[in-house]
Amino acid sequence: MRVFNFKTELFTFIKNEKAKNKTIGLVPTMGALHEGHLSLVKKAMEENDVVVVSIFVNPTQFDNKDDLDKYPQNFSEDLKTLNTVSEAIIVFAPTKDDIYEGSIASRSYNFEGLEKVMEGEFRTGHFNGVATIVELLLRTVDPNRAYFGEKDFQQLQIIKKLVKNKKLPYQIIACPIEREPNGLARSSRNERLSKKTRQKAALIFKTLSSAKEKFGTKSAEYIKEWVTKVFDENELFKLEYFEITDVDTLTPMIKKQKNRKYRAFIAVYADGIRLIDNIALN
Ligand code: PAF
Repeated sequence: MRVFNFKTELFTFIKNEKAKNKTIGLVPTMGALHEGHLSLVKKAMEENDVVVVSIFVNPTQFDNKDDLDKYPQNFSEDLKTLNTVSEAIIVFAPTKDDIYEGSIASRSYNFEGLEKVMEGEFRTGHFNGVATIVELLLRTVDPNRAYFGEKDFQQLQIIKKLVKNKKLPYQIIACPIEREPNGLARSSRNERLSKKTRQKAALIFKTLSSAKEKFGTKSAEYIKEWVTKVFDENELFKLEYFEITDVDTLTPMIKKQKNRKYRAFIAVYADGIRLIDNIALN
């Protein structure tokens, strides 16, 4: 497995591969790799000649220093995990200074409101940080396709908007959410939960699934109140938000419109750890 730590070296390698007419797939990650990441990597392997997995815990997207400090990191384990998929995977693990060229700060973006709601409302500056690093990674790797999980559905919509607004020639591929056997969406943060909480966190997906059932006959307001009550009655979890929004604009649904697609989004604290999930409603 080849590991690049410097973007100039990776850029030269990619240029040579492209000269041989090879297609490039990029899977951006922050490490602590799990089955969710591997499903992205496997899809990228199917669709491209060369796959680059970036491993970089991006400081500019954390609004909370404690969350950044506690973000799980295990680089040698990640390499082993990737090796089980293919030894041909290229790993890009830059230092902060290399990828940010010394100036570790977010750029400021306008995503026409997509960045203001939900994660954007509760994590100040988060999407500026995500967009900054994703733009840097895309421009460095210059891939044909880049892969993102639907667990971070708002992030996915923002990255699609970034690519569109900046007219970047990269195809953004959405990959479905991978779940643990009890339904909990796979996330690097799950490792920080106690065994008991990790089991009980099945409630998050169970509630989303019930919300989906109710969506056929009940209003968004009714469902929101019902979800709030479910979490109020459960001491282990603290609900931060539950929203039903239009898939494209991410604005809250007021009244169901024909021909529009809706999704439910949730953020919950468990053991002081923030977990997010979402589900397609129609
Ligand atoms: O989804 C993530 O892990 C991160 O937000 C990403 C896209 C790798 C950017 O740091």
